[in-house]
Amino acid sequence: MSFALNDSKLFREACYGNGQWISDGNDGHIEVVNPANGEVIGRVPSLDEGQVSASIAAAAEGFEVWKNTSIADRSACLRRWFDLMHEHKEDLARIMTLEQGKPITESRGEIDYAASYIEWFAEEAKRGYGQVIPAVKPDQRIVVRPEPVGVTTAITPWNFPAAMITRKAAAALAAGCSMLVKPSGNTPFSALALAELGERAGFPAGVFNVLTGSSAVVGEVFTRSGTVKKLSFTGSTEVGRKLMAMCADNLHKLSLELGGNAPFVVFDDADLDLAVKGAIAAKFRNTGQTCICPNRFLVQAAVHDEFVAKLAAALKELKVGDGFDEEVKQTSLINEKAVEKVQRHYDDALAKGGKCVLGERPGKLPHNRVAPIVITGLSQQMQIWQEETFGPMAPVMKFDSEQDGIDAANATPFGLAAYFYASNSDRVWRVSEALQAGMVGANEGAISNAMAPFGGIDQSGFGREGGREGMAEYQQLKYVCFGESGPAA
Ligand code: SIN
Repeated sequence: MSFALNDSKLFREACYGNGQWISDGNDGHIEVVNPANGEVIGRVPSLDEGQVSASIAAAAEGFEVWKNTSIADRSACLRRWFDLMHEHKEDLARIMTLEQGKPITESRGEIDYAASYIEWFAEEAKRGYGQVIPAVKPDQRIVVRPEPVGVTTAITPWNFPAAMITRKAAAALAAGCSMLVKPSGNTPFSALALAELGERAGFPAGVFNVLTGSSAVVGEVFTRSGTVKKLSFTGSTEVGRKLMAMCADNLHKLSLELGGNAPFVVFDDADLDLAVKGAIAAKFRNTGQTCICPNRFLVQAAVHDEFVAKLAAALKELKVGDGFDEEVKQTSLINEKAVEKVQRHYDDALAKGGKCVLGERPGKLPHNRVAPIVITGLSQQMQIWQEETFGPMAPVMKFDSEQDGIDAANATPFGLAAYFYASNSDRVWRVSEALQAGMVGANEGAISNAMAPFGGIDQSGFGREGGREGMAEYQQLKYVCFGESGPAA
């Protein structure tokens, strides 16, 4: 019932390469499971090395066509893709909730968010400016031109099955590159629906491809291919490091959006109601399964108890249940392993002196659901301090001075996002500069948007998605020095 689509062709059990739908994988099939009930919702082909390589060869041909397509036509094609996403928003949201589990209201939000990257890059395509530089000699002219890097690849995660694709693919396509996407095996159907809409939007064969298969096989072929020029990956730091090593032989250009361990710092002059609102937006979106989720709440002593009480009271109101229920705000985690990780962090925190002030040990609710948990007494010795929990658990630590709060916030090797709440404007500037992260929310819990450069530092990776910087990740610079050409022949 919840799976009825207005346009059933958007649910494709085949992957897409060279403008063709591929139903048979030489490595068999991958079954895709609804995390809310464990039922198989469909299957996609598992391509073997030869099939992936053939699609890469076709993407090289697609690149030749696409880079010679006028900017106006490229931009118009992207714009049609954006329009089609909006036209089919409800179906795309249903597919997403079905395979990923997030609340349907959030899936609709993700479709808007994902489409906004396409709209942004449809416009940015027109602004691939170069430079004319004053030359050393009077008869020289120096021109710098950004050019598309060529065939590009993306390996994308399950937590944002549409947006993590569009913000890579739209940037690549705007720059004039072709792209092959390998979506997560948990959530391929959102990616394949995007391929269907890309086909309808009119991308030439080989320009936008979605290949399904095992991460090991597809990752190996993507990284070992000399035809491929770039890999963009969103996922764990551990896998990012391996992919970087695998890309070393071919010196692929890389963008890596890796793990986070965001601090959420509440100073004693913060508006606590705003801070709680921001905390819920940042931490409990996607049931805590977001790379930019706050993982550690650090609260100044004078407001600690009040903040914890307000946070717990607000979290009690979040309805936990099935993603297709319009009122539900927290749903199933992606799988049992995800629940086990929250359990492990919970047990470790309590064993090391933490106190659970809201919720209970995860694992009691059906269908991998976990209700919000708040733990006080967070310390640097706990596992939760070292690793992303990726679930709806908020551990809180008390700190004394402003500098203590900043030091604690920066005390991890990660640097994706950081958040803080304060009202003194000097403090707001000071802290925004002191926090070591690629993105900082200053009195703001919802920081993601297509206009801003999204990305991290240190162990959270490098490269930026969205903003003016997003398209440059798929371009290389060519400097041409024009000299004297001699007398005309
Ligand atoms: C992520 O979890 O990495 C993506 C979150 C976002 O784009 O807001």
